[in-house]
Amino acid sequence: MPRTARSYRVTIANVGRTIDCAANQTVLEAAVAAGIDFPYTCATGNCGTCCSRLDAGKVALLPRSDAALGPQQKKAGLTLACRARPRSDLAVTWLGRGGR
Ligand code: FES
Repeated sequence: MPRTARSYRVTIANVGRTIDCAANQTVLEAAVAAGIDFPYTCATGNCGTCCSRLDAGKVALLPRSDAALGPQQKKAGLTLACRARPRSDLAVTWLGRGGR
């Protein structure tokens, strides 16, 4: 199958694994596809369950609710795995299950 999108390396610190994530794929989609038990609930940017610290790299965020990730949290280096598409190689740490 031809590669249609560039892909990046995403390190998920909680499980000590590095996976491939296409530029048009979210970090959550890539993690789930790789069999990683990444915490999430809505997968649509509304609940905040997938909230993660962006330890390194750049992401492009899809539309999301401010309740799930507000501007202050974004400024503080947090991101939503279900809304984040890689724009460089990344390192992320999910912040837990069942809320922050
Ligand atoms: S899983 Fe709900 S905001 Fe990402």
